[in-house]
Amino acid sequence: MAENKTFTMIKPDAVQDNHIGGIIQMMEEGGFRVVALKKTRLTPERAGKFYEVHKERPFYNDLVRYMSSGPIVAMILEKENAVADFRKLIGATNPAQAEEGTIRKKYAKSVEANAVHGSDSDENAQIEGDFFFGEDERF
Ligand code: TYD
Repeated sequence: MAENKTFTMIKPDAVQDNHIGGIIQMMEEGGFRVVALKKTRLTPERAGKFYEVHKERPFYNDLVRYMSSGPIVAMILEKENAVADFRKLIGATNPAQAEEGTIRKKYAKSVEANAVHGSDSDENAQIEGDFFFGEDERF
């Protein structure tokens, strides 16, 4: 994905709690444009593949179980400097450390159920966007 795109998911707890609209509003007000969007559910196999880089980490099995526990909303977002600016907007992985005004500060419940995903590099934004969206689903 080009440098002006990132990939995000609204995670199962935030979807379950009816925060899709509130979270997308924060993204749009933060200057991001929605390029692609779908509500879907990851099977444990696909969640495992998505988080494969964390395979050796102690939280991996719980994370895969959690991410496949209910529907998620996947999106490609566009903005200049998208990856870094979006990481700022979502805040720290652990919501206890997330700054005021961030999405995780407002919506995350725990380190695991932390409301949203954000790509950590342009390369991963490309890989993760391709994981969910075909070329004909991006506008
Ligand atoms: P990570 O890539 O470190 O964080 P981020 O989502 O901020 O890029 O971790 C990926 C996800 O793994 C994280 O969003 C939640 C989960 N996770 C845990 O469940 N426990 C942990 O101790 C860590 C570090 C992450």
